[in-house]
Amino acid sequence: MTKTLRTQVLIIGAGPAGLLLGQLLHKAGIDNLIVERQTGDYVLGRIRAGVLEQTTVELLDRAGVAARLHAEGLVHHGFELMFDGQRHHIDLSRLTGGKSVTVYGQTEVTRDLMAARAAAGEPTLYSATDVELFGFDGDQPGARCTVDGERIEIHCDYIAGCDGYHGVSRASVPAEAIRTHEKVYPFGWLGLLSDTPPVSHELIYGRHERGFTLCSMRSSTRSRYYLQVPLTEQAGDWSDERFWNELRSRLDPAAAAALVTGPSLEKSIAPLRSFVAEPMRFGRLFLAGDAAHIVPPTGAKGLNLAASDVHYLSQALIEHYRERSEAGIAHYSARCLSRIWKAERFSWWFTSLMHKLPNEPEIDAKLHRAELEYVVSSDAAMASMAENYVGLPW
Ligand code: FAD
Ligand code: PHB
Repeated sequence: MTKTLRTQVLIIGAGPAGLLLGQLLHKAGIDNLIVERQTGDYVLGRIRAGVLEQTTVELLDRAGVAARLHAEGLVHHGFELMFDGQRHHIDLSRLTGGKSVTVYGQTEVTRDLMAARAAAGEPTLYSATDVELFGFDGDQPGARCTVDGERIEIHCDYIAGCDGYHGVSRASVPAEAIRTHEKVYPFGWLGLLSDTPPVSHELIYGRHERGFTLCSMRSSTRSRYYLQVPLTEQAGDWSDERFWNELRSRLDPAAAAALVTGPSLEKSIAPLRSFVAEPMRFGRLFLAGDAAHIVPPTGAKGLNLAASDVHYLSQALIEHYRERSEAGIAHYSARCLSRIWKAERFSWWFTSLMHKLPNEPEIDAKLHRAELEYVVSSDAAMASMAENYVGLPW
C-alpha cells in the first residue's frame, strides 16, 4: 500500500535552507511539506556556520524567527587578521558605512526554525529513506520515499531541492542539463567546540607558517576554533591537548597567553571545496543552498548564500501564487548565480590568501605576505575585503 499526499511546494531537506523556505512560504499562506533523510536531533547535532550577514538576519526577522537571535546573538563590528605574529583590526562598520555581522550558530538558527515550524503545524517527514523525485520536467512533479516502512508518494506544484551537497535533488537532473564547476583544496579544517571563553572578543583569522587558524565563538562562554590540517588527518588522532598546543603555537604571544583551554564538546574535520552547479532551475525543480553550491568556509558565506537563494525562491513562488507572475521563477537561477559567483570569488581569494599550501614555493609565501601587508595598510583594499565579508547586497 502506498500513501498519497499532496502539497503546493515539496521541500527536500530540513537544513537551514529548507526550513527557512518552509517558514517564509507558510507566512505567505503557501502549503509546503518537508522530507528529510535524517532525524531532527541529527540535524541539530551538526556543528557548522557561525557568522550571519545583516541581510540574513533581516530575512530571519521577516520569517518571524529572530527573537532569540536578537537576544543572544553577538553583533560584531570587526574582526582581526593575524600574520607574522601580529593582529590587525579590520573595522567592518567604519569601512562599510555602519554594517556589521552577527555571531549566532547555525545550530541555533535551525533550532529556532524547527520550533516555528512545529508551532505552525507544518508537516516534516523525518528519517525518510529512498527519496526519489519524478516529473519535474513536466507539470506533475512529486517524490516517493519510505518512512517507518511505509511507502509515500507526494504530489506537488514545485520541488525545492534544499538537500545539501550530497542530496538527491541535484543528482536527479540529467547530466546533459547541468554544468558543474569544482575546485577541491589540498587541506581541511579541524574544528573544536568547547565551553571556554573566546580568546578575543572578535574573530581572529590567522596565517601562520604551520597553517591557517580561526578563533571563533558561539557566546561569551563557548568557543569554536579551527586549524588547517592535511587531508590525511583524522579527528580521532587529535587529543584535546594536541589541538590546544597546535592552536597556541599558531597564535601571537598575547593571544597564546590569553587562550583558555578545556575539554572539547565536538571535534570534526571538514574538507574545503568551491563548487557551483548551473543552472539552478530545471522545469519545476529548484536547487537552493549547498545543493547548488559550496564555498570554502573562510569567508563565512555558505549559510548566507543559502539564505539569499531562499529569499529569491520564496519571492518567486509568492509572486506565482499571488499574482500569477512567472517572472521570478524565470529569473531565479540567474539572480542567484550572479550573487553566488561573487561570493565564490571572495571565498576562494580569502582562502588562498590565508592558507599555506603543502610544499608552497617561497615566492608564493612572499606574495601572500605582501598582499596581507597591502590589505592592512590600504583603506581601499580593506574596504573591499570588508564589503564582501559583511555581504554584498541582494
Ligand atoms: P545542509 O545544511 O547540508 O542541509 C541539507 C539537508 O538535506 C540535511 O539536513 C540533509 O540531511 C538533508 N538531505 C540530504 N540528502 C537528502 C535526501 N536524499 N533526502 C532528504 N533529505 C536529504 N556558512 C556561513 O554562512 N558562515 C559560516 O561561518 C560557515 N561556517 C562553516 C563551517 C564549517 C566547518 C562548515 C562545514 C560549513 C560552514 N558554513 C558556513 C556553511 C554552511 O554550514 C552551509 O552552507 C549550510 O549548512 C547550507 O545549508 P543547506 O540547508 O543548504 O544545506
Ligand atoms: C564558525 O564560527 O564556525 C565560523 C566562523 C567564521 C568562518 C567560518 C566558521 O569564516
